[in-house]
Amino acid sequence: MKVLGLAGSPRRGGNSETLLDRALAGAQDAGAEVEKVVVSRLKMRGCQHCDGCVETGLCIVQDDMQSVYPKLREMDAFVVASPMFFMAVTAQLKAVFDRCQCLWIAKYDLGQSFVPEGAPKRPGLFIALGGTRFKHLFDPSRVIVKSIFASLDVAYGPELFYRSIDKKGDIRQHPTALDEAYAAGRRLVTGE
Ligand SMILES: Cc1cc2nc3c(=O)[nH]c(=O)nc-3n(C[C@H](O)[C@H](O)[C@H](O)COP(=O)(O)O)c2cc1C
Repeated sequence: MKVLGLAGSPRRGGNSETLLDRALAGAQDAGAEVEKVVVSRLKMRGCQHCDGCVETGLCIVQDDMQSVYPKLREMDAFVVASPMFFMAVTAQLKAVFDRCQCLWIAKYDLGQSFVPEGAPKRPGLFIALGGTRFKHLFDPSRVIVKSIFASLDVAYGPELFYRSIDKKGDIRQHPTALDEAYAAGRRLVTGE
């Protein structure tokens, strides 16, 4: 089983990447092959809406995103982790989502499902955090991530959201977050 994790933060080793690493460790300990893509390291453009994908479902923009497409197609489970930047996932992560327009075309226009017919969707986990305690902090991102998960045949299931996490390393002081991320990563593989 392959578990793909997208690290949405440009701050390396920050709070959301720390939780993503815990989730991937949980998945790996449960027997999965895990891979992390740090989206801020990708040299890539946003979607140009060039319609170059409409016939084939393949993006014609030749940049680092080309290395991510096979991972998105072949993964068996998906973890997305992001800090909240002005009430949403980071721009770097959103750019990756937007570049999945070719996969949306593949699925909805060309009828190419990412799971075999009749099989359940691939399990997904969304990890998000932010520095404030704002009640609606995660609402916009939940909608965005649900949309991309649906397009990739990923089930929107568990979400781990943490407020008041701001300085680098704050998440390590949280009483339960690291364990919760590890357990959620494990459950992606065990299904329990
Ligand atoms: C550009 C920017 C925008 C931010 N916007 C928000 C926000 O809208 N709401 C919030 O609660 N925190 C906001 N924050 C704080 C981050 O979400 C917080 O510092 C988080 O812990 C960073 O996680 P990371 O270490 O994974 O990058 C913002 C931080 C930056 C740099």
